[in-house]
Amino acid sequence: MSHQQELHGEVFYPPEHIVAQANLPDYEAQHQAMLADLAGEWGRIAEENFEWFAPWEKTLDESQAPFYKWFVGGKVNIVHNALDRHLKTWRRNKVALIWEGENYDQRSLTYHQLAREVCRFASVLRAMGVQKGDRVTIYMGRVPEIMIAMLACAKIGAVHSVVYGGFSVEALHERIEDSQSKVVVTADGAWLRGKVVQLKKIVDEALLRSPTVQTVIVVKRTGEDVHMEPGRDLWYHELMKLPIADAGCHTEIMDAEDPLFLLYTSGTTGKPKAILHTHGGYMVGVATTLKWVFDLKEEDTWWCAADPGWITGHSYIVYAPLLLGVTSVMYEGAPNHPFPDRWWDIVERHGVTVLYTAPTAIRGLMRFGDAWPNRHDLSSLRLLGSVGEPINPEAWKWYYRVIGGERCPIMDTWWQTETGNFMITPLPVTPLKPGSATKPFPGVDVEIVDEEGDPVAANEEGYLIVKRPWPAMLRTIYGDPDRYVKQYWERFSEPEKGKFIYMTGDSARRDEDGYIWVIGRVDDVIKVSGYRLGTAEIESALVSHPAVAEAAVIGVPDEVRGSVIKAYCILRAGVEPSPRLVEELREHVGHEVGPIAKPSSIEFVEKLPKTRSGKIMRRVLKARALGQDEGDLSTLEE
Ligand code: WTA
Repeated sequence: MSHQQELHGEVFYPPEHIVAQANLPDYEAQHQAMLADLAGEWGRIAEENFEWFAPWEKTLDESQAPFYKWFVGGKVNIVHNALDRHLKTWRRNKVALIWEGENYDQRSLTYHQLAREVCRFASVLRAMGVQKGDRVTIYMGRVPEIMIAMLACAKIGAVHSVVYGGFSVEALHERIEDSQSKVVVTADGAWLRGKVVQLKKIVDEALLRSPTVQTVIVVKRTGEDVHMEPGRDLWYHELMKLPIADAGCHTEIMDAEDPLFLLYTSGTTGKPKAILHTHGGYMVGVATTLKWVFDLKEEDTWWCAADPGWITGHSYIVYAPLLLGVTSVMYEGAPNHPFPDRWWDIVERHGVTVLYTAPTAIRGLMRFGDAWPNRHDLSSLRLLGSVGEPINPEAWKWYYRVIGGERCPIMDTWWQTETGNFMITPLPVTPLKPGSATKPFPGVDVEIVDEEGDPVAANEEGYLIVKRPWPAMLRTIYGDPDRYVKQYWERFSEPEKGKFIYMTGDSARRDEDGYIWVIGRVDDVIKVSGYRLGTAEIESALVSHPAVAEAAVIGVPDEVRGSVIKAYCILRAGVEPSPRLVEELREHVGHEVGPIAKPSSIEFVEKLPKTRSGKIMRRVLKARALGQDEGDLSTLEE
């Protein structure tokens, strides 16, 4: 290909054959066309690629910004497009999902089989009294039933709220309570590293704190003995044997703007917030981004190795691949179980063509050396992907060389729970720079600005913002529209001028070639192994322990996990610090929030740096922990 522009730094150009078959060959033309006519272009894409029960009247309604609406008045259901419409074509008998259990159990479901299971479970939910608009909490491991349950909810217009299976009692309770779910779908347990995660036991404990739940449906996965509460708990497999599990369930006709799901994520302060996504815009956004970025073709085998409990799994395990009608792989367990080549074995055996994972997993597997992947034939791979945090160039190059055999471009996709889909990302035709997410997706209008909201110069760090709406954007924080405005739109918008700016919470810089380098969060969000955690949730778990009076947590850099959590605790009067107490507090956080939130170190202190108004200055703690300059201390109370 011709390299029109001389790029600075180390650049990896895409191979000819990748460029030749790209689903979107001309990035620049498409980006410009979309910036020039955002609504027009998205309207065209929505019309050409999906079936609508009734057309929309207005593609984009900005009249109540920042409460944007897309495809206003359009009638649709994402499940109709993800499943039902394929049944009318040859895709009916195509494999939709190849599933592998950690213990090597295998299952695969064709589009017909998946659609049938979804229908039957949707009928069960209806029979349980779940109606359009009701919230259903789903708390499970990586098994096909998590996908079936999500799609069944969407099919009948219920709103799913998936809680990641690695979360624990208090985190689950809070999310059930906030969403006011009356039904919880869970499993007896999940396999992880050869051990059972006792999901049902965690549900039972959480429900002692959330008595409003009326029905718990339990999938049998591990076969371990679990307590079944009479009148409340029902086995999935028994329900699915009853006549109520009717395969003739109709798909609810939804408004494009009707809610599809809630997904809790942590933000700057306070409790986790429920990000709300809708049927219409989300559908158009996730499918289009997957099609253009990972270049999926009918014959591809796509493997997004994330967990369905996070946005990556919602968008790119469940919805987008089915919307495109491709075959996906889902793997239940840990990447290094029983050996560090488990993933490479899966790639080889299932003939995975596109693999999408996180830097933390790449770094973790890289530690075991090249021999493990080299033992496998990975030649089926065509493209690779990364998400969740910045990928360090060393890990990028290992991934490129050892896994991709220097033939597979790496799509480093930057996005968020809130954005719903990829926002800054290469396309297969984009020359790559290791560690840079490169350019905005077509139509995405990003900028990097200073404290005043003015664009910064090339190579200067600033706040990453988005200046125009996009179809898959969050619509609000469920139950708290004020917080939605405050959290995302207040900082840089000028509503009196009709100017609305979305604040991502990340900092970034743009180099002299226009390539974007995302640096990291500027708020109290910590990324541990790519998982997004909030300081507030971990701190409140710590102070819920009787020994702790006050707590503050920060993220400190870690070679494999990106960041790990360091906690500072002030003990209650009379409590003596001890190594045993450290262990007890770690366990307590594990029990309340989840194993991923366990601090890797806890320091007992006499006081915490606070502002005069009593806010903990985590920035100061962090600077001290890293031996850096503490910066401006004028607001410190001491
Ligand atoms: C970070 C995950 C650098 C970022 C899809 C963002 C990234 C947060 C990248 C959202 C990337 C995600 N490069 N940083 N390619 N992808 N991030 O909501 O800080 O779990 O704001 O969504 O992850 O995390 P979330």
